Amino acid sequence: MCTSPTERTDGWTALDTPERITAAVRKLERMGRTEAEFAARRRYLDLLAPCPGESVVDVGAGTGLITLDIAARVNPGGRVVAVDPSAALLDHARSAAKAARLSEVFEAEVADGRALPFADRSFHAAFCHWVLLHVDPGSAIVRELKRVTQPGGRVMCVEMDWETAIVYPGERALTRRILNFSNDRHVEGWSGRRLTSLFKECGFVDVVVEPIVDVDQSGDPVWLDFIRERAQNALEGGSVSDAEARAWTGAIEAAAVADRYFFAITQFAVLGRVPT
Ligand SMILES: C[S@@+](CC[C@H](N)C(=O)[O-])C[C@H]1O[C@@H](n2cnc3c(N)ncnc32)[C@H](O)[C@@H]1O
Repeated sequence: MCTSPTERTDGWTALDTPERITAAVRKLERMGRTEAEFAARRRYLDLLAPCPGESVVDVGAGTGLITLDIAARVNPGGRVVAVDPSAALLDHARSAAKAARLSEVFEAEVADGRALPFADRSFHAAFCHWVLLHVDPGSAIVRELKRVTQPGGRVMCVEMDWETAIVYPGERALTRRILNFSNDRHVEGWSGRRLTSLFKECGFVDVVVEPIVDVDQSGDPVWLDFIRERAQNALEGGSVSDAEARAWTGAIEAAAVADRYFFAITQFAVLGRVPT
């Protein structure tokens, strides 16, 4: 079951100050605009295959980066509804839709994905990206995605499995301690590896998984910042000493400069069909 202790929260469950919202927008836009993510989006949206004229809901849409790609695919004549508990993030999404001249097929609704404000069978397809790991229980969102999708319709969730993050160089035990410190702070850090079984448990048919591996060997600032943030979190949480955190990040940064660094992480796009 996709349940976990409710006291576990991460930055995405409490976007309640202007500073947190600004940081969230920056993070989503930065991560979502890497070359690897552009390629990943093409792959999983090709699998979901939203078509002109279709209606799609994007739950936990954030700044709407992916919602807009879906909007472009359902245009003309379709509609995509971005749902998120954060009105501020949806404001950003609305402005982006306007700038992309896609307002006609774009809508936004402030709501919790565990209780969607839509009638049963409202959409041809439903989508949810990088959300389940922040929600307790994530399974409630998957059940709602199924409820609001028509029989025969498609539902897709995409989740990073943070424990698949690997990096070289680094002393093994220290690397595990640093990376797992942050992994264990997510509400459900294993949401990626649990997705297919959750879909089957929820009664979807024709469940398929598309594994997507992001690899960085060039020292992409997005991933180097991610590595620094992991070390900082572990330091603040008392899991490593200042010297250990500095030595670990320093060795990785030096390896990136010397073209001897390797980082990879795997996300899973899972697609299921609502039984007819
Ligand atoms: C990591 S962001 C992903 C945003 C977007 N899907 C993307 O990939 O660009 C997680 C999003 O989940 C939203 N979220 C948090 N709790 C939620 C809930 N209970 N129901 C729906 N969305 C939620 C957050 O507000 C945030 O926008």
